[in-house]
Amino acid sequence: MSKQLQQEITRRRTFGIISHPDAGKTTLTEKLLLFGGAINMAGAVKSRKVDRHATSDWMAIEQERGISVTTSVMKFTYRDYEVNLLDTPGHQDFSEDTYRVLTAVDSAVMVIDSAKGVESQTEKLMEVCRMRNTPIMTFINKLDREGRSPLDLMDEIEEKLQIECTPLSWPIGMGKTFKGVYNLYHKTLHLFKPGQTTRDIKKIVIEDLNDPQVDSLLGSQADDLREDIELLEGAANPFEYEHYLQASQTPVFFGSAINNFGVQEMLDCFVEMAPAPGPRRTVTREVLPAEESFSGFVFKIQANMDPAHRDRIAFFRICSGKFTRGMKVKHHRLGKDITLANATIFMAQERANIDEAWPGDIIGLHNHGTIKIGDTFTPKEMLKFTGIPNFAPEHFRRVLLKDPLKTKQLQKGLIQLAEEGAIQVFRPLIGSDYIIGAVGVLQFEVTMARLKNEYSVNAVYEPVDYQAARWVRSDTPKSMDEFERKNQASLAFDSEGFLTYLAQNEWMLNYFMEKWPDIIFDKTRENV
Ligand code: G4P
Repeated sequence: MSKQLQQEITRRRTFGIISHPDAGKTTLTEKLLLFGGAINMAGAVKSRKVDRHATSDWMAIEQERGISVTTSVMKFTYRDYEVNLLDTPGHQDFSEDTYRVLTAVDSAVMVIDSAKGVESQTEKLMEVCRMRNTPIMTFINKLDREGRSPLDLMDEIEEKLQIECTPLSWPIGMGKTFKGVYNLYHKTLHLFKPGQTTRDIKKIVIEDLNDPQVDSLLGSQADDLREDIELLEGAANPFEYEHYLQASQTPVFFGSAINNFGVQEMLDCFVEMAPAPGPRRTVTREVLPAEESFSGFVFKIQANMDPAHRDRIAFFRICSGKFTRGMKVKHHRLGKDITLANATIFMAQERANIDEAWPGDIIGLHNHGTIKIGDTFTPKEMLKFTGIPNFAPEHFRRVLLKDPLKTKQLQKGLIQLAEEGAIQVFRPLIGSDYIIGAVGVLQFEVTMARLKNEYSVNAVYEPVDYQAARWVRSDTPKSMDEFERKNQASLAFDSEGFLTYLAQNEWMLNYFMEKWPDIIFDKTRENV
């Protein structure tokens, strides 16, 4: 193994931030990028914010392709570390996309609003992280406002998210009486000053909390801090690095992202403790990042990012070896050799062409529809990384074309949008209309707007009487034939040609599953 490869792996951190909308993900991202020197202007990230906006705003923003590109992945350097921050859409209607983004990270940071505690979307995203045992650090935000007590918040995290909390910093007061945080790990006191914009925040080293300096700095709150720390020493879970890596424990930090307070502290711990790129499973074997041979997979596709070029970018996570511009790899799904000539790396504000990249890095590959989610590239060995699924949609609409001459464009648009993973397209065995399925309804509106803007297709939706879909297969060809023959009206092919059963409701689905024991009904499907 080359020394440089090992060094580059060791200094890489690839992560995503998970939070319920409004907890402060955007603000925290912006501050992290400030520390990383990737942006030098507050407000730069704000413009990309889409989660909280109405659909119309969302689409308007989405249409400004440049914005969504630069923010899907943000790369920055902090100290000696190369950090890749992957954007995870916070809106629940985009949870499928978020899931796939989380397959490409090595760890996550969870942001919690100190007044609201654990919220619904936090719980869902946490479930996803748990499925992959993704290590998580927690940032409890908005301490400059009145919120819930830190112990109460940690209890809630432990109970609702089933993960042990271990505080690494501790807040002194909150809201109007917020004085700062005491770093339990380094035994330093950080005094709060609102509106911090500098990168150097003064730390005061406190060897002994009984030092009278603590009283002069904190006044009457000094004794509260002493009591809290004494209590924590007896009651809090001690920090166990292994438990963090196994995702059974989360180190907790307190701060105020908007005031840039507590952020650097967390970032310092993050780069030191968060895992570097690790092994990844494939159908045949585990791939280690330090293997010389290059490998990786596509976890996200974004089309038409530049309307002038109609290109598509596949976001590719490098899992092993070194990427060099112009290298030849095998596109295993197509069985073809391709040259990775034009790879892009995403800096916070711009994209740049790159000559080399390493495990943990995310590169953008331009293509015209030849690359799909789940595709794996390696120079020779046939590998297929696992765990990048499609989810059965829960909402359905029939697409009615207004201008019959645009059938081809409609087909092209729908297929491309399906390949991006935003929607799923079904072609019923009987009839000629397309049915589209989505995990969240917001995707329908976005799809229609994009069909119009990017493919010049005028179409409308019609409600359709389906509430569930399952991919169907069987080990017994005879049963499969019979199932297909008898249920034509409820069957469709998805855009990859997989047979799918569309059910009117859950009851029907269960009834079918009981009635056809030889048929396997899959809720998720991995691209092959
Ligand atoms: P999100 O990406 O998780 O959805 O949250 P975002 O960062 O946009 O923050 C949501 C709101 O919370 C914003 O206010 C933001 O300014 C505020 N906020 C973030 N961090 C802190 C903090 O540490 N303290 C306080 N008090 N507020 C914080 P907004 O009014 O909704 O938006 P804006 O007008 O400020 O942009």
